[in-house]
Amino acid sequence: MGFKEIDPSQLPAKEAYHFLTALVVPRPIAWVSTLSPTGIRNLAPHSYFNAISSDPLIVHFTSTGTKDSLVNARSMGEFVINIVSRDLVEPMNLTAANFPPDEDEFSWAGLDAAPSKTVKPPRVAAAKAALECRVEQILQLGNGSMVFGQVLSVVIDESTMRDGRVDPALLSPIGRLGGSTYSDTAQSLFDLKRPRWEELKLQRGSGSTEHEGGG
Ligand SMILES: Cc1cc2nc3c(=O)[nH]c(=O)nc-3n(C[C@H](O)[C@H](O)[C@H](O)COP(=O)(O)O)c2cc1C
Repeated sequence: MGFKEIDPSQLPAKEAYHFLTALVVPRPIAWVSTLSPTGIRNLAPHSYFNAISSDPLIVHFTSTGTKDSLVNARSMGEFVINIVSRDLVEPMNLTAANFPPDEDEFSWAGLDAAPSKTVKPPRVAAAKAALECRVEQILQLGNGSMVFGQVLSVVIDESTMRDGRVDPALLSPIGRLGGSTYSDTAQSLFDLKRPRWEELKLQRGSGSTEHEGGG
């Protein structure tokens, strides 16, 4: 069996989406809470989510097409990203249903909301961590609207921390893979030390370029 080369522009949109989401994996899930201009609470998962900057803290979630989360974030300028741990998979999934804009997904999922400190949208009380964000910029690329937000407050359940650090096994975040498959990250943790140029150089005995990693 060899390699197949695929030109995504020749694929039906659904097929192209399959390859994108099956290969860009595992994706973290931003469970985005927002408020509509009339005060209706909205909650929906977005796996097009990542960190952008660590000084200041900036993250993004991306809406494919125009979802309520995007409309609310754009009009109100604020959102909260709740981290989805293993025990919250079922309510998270429920909030992905195509609810009309005037339905409150917190209520539908039977989730308690907790007030945020720095923004108006509440967070999911049961989520072990949340990032309270102010919209910085919205960038449209293709059918994606990337909502960039500066994190004004990091809320973390102290039970997930050990020695002042978040313990991944205690946070137990889930990841999304292709289709409806998820990974339970806490089940498969391993540590890997990143090599340093200074060490590699000594082993090989050559060259010199500066290198500083990000994510
Ligand atoms: C795990 C998961 C991840 C998702 N990721 C995204 C995403 O990154 N972008 C998106 O537009 N929709 C995503 N969806 C679909 C939305 O959650 C769904 O369309 C939802 O109804 C949007 O809600 P809203 O209109 O209240 O924003 C995802 C669904 C699931 C279950």
